Amino acid sequence: MTVLGTIDIKKSFKIKGQEPIEVLKGVNLAVGPGEKVAIVGRSGAGKSTLLNILGGLLKPTSGTVTRPQNIGFVFQQYHLMPELTVLENVLLPTMTGRLPAADYLARAKKLIDSVGLSSRIKHLPSELSGGEQQRVALARALVTNPPLVLADEPTGNLDAMTGTDILRMLSELSRGSEVSLVLVTHSPQAAAVCDRTLRLENGILIKE
Ligand SMILES: Nc1ncnc2c1ncn2[C@@H]1O[C@H](COP(=O)(O)OP(=O)(O)O)[C@@H](O)[C@H]1O
Ligand SMILES: [Mg+2]
Repeated sequence: MTVLGTIDIKKSFKIKGQEPIEVLKGVNLAVGPGEKVAIVGRSGAGKSTLLNILGGLLKPTSGTVTRPQNIGFVFQQYHLMPELTVLENVLLPTMTGRLPAADYLARAKKLIDSVGLSSRIKHLPSELSGGEQQRVALARALVTNPPLVLADEPTGNLDAMTGTDILRMLSELSRGSEVSLVLVTHSPQAAAVCDRTLRLENGILIKE
C-alpha cells in the first residue's frame, strides 16, 4: 500500500531565450502508510521543486503523482498569517473541513499544547521566535489529521538546538498518528528521525 506514489516525474523550467533547465529527470517514489522518508541533496538540486510537485503546488512537465487530497505542509519560512493569532493560524486548514468546529477546536488546542505553546494561544506570529513560529506551523500541518505531511527544510532557518526541538516534536507528533512524512533536509539529525534517506542528484532519487 502506498500513501504517496510518483511515476517518472520530470520537470523542466523554460526561461525565454534560454535553454530549458531540466531539474527532475524521472523521479520514482513510493511512500507507505506511516513511513518517514528524508530527501537530501545539494542546494539547487530540485528538492523544493519535487516537494511542490508532490504536494500539488506545481505541475510536473510529465509523469504522475498519486497522493491523498488532505496534506499537511511545513515550510522553511513558517508562512503563518501575520494578522491571525496562534490559535487562528492552527485552525486555518480546518475552515473547509468535515468535522464539527468544536472537534477541530479541541484538536487545535491539544496540538498547541503538545508543541508547548498553550500560554501563547492569543499571540500574533510577530510576537513569537522563529522556533515558536515553526511549532505553530507544525500544529497547523497536523490539525486536520492528514495521512501525509510534506516538510521543506523545516529547520533551515533555526539554530541547531531549536532545530533539534522541532525535529523531536515532528517525529513525536507524527509517530503517534499513522502519518507519512516526506522531509527535505540538510540536517543529518533530521534524516535520522526518518525510516530511510534518499538523495536527489542529477534529477533522480538514489538510495543514500
Ligand atoms: N520557477 C522557476 N523558474 C526557473 N527556474 C527555477 C524555478 N524554480 C526553481 N528553478 C530552478 O530549479 C533548480 C532547483 O531549484 P529548487 O527546487 O529550489 O532546489 P533546492 O530546493 O534543492 O535547493 C534551481 O536551479 C532553480 O534555479
Ligand atoms: Mg529548497
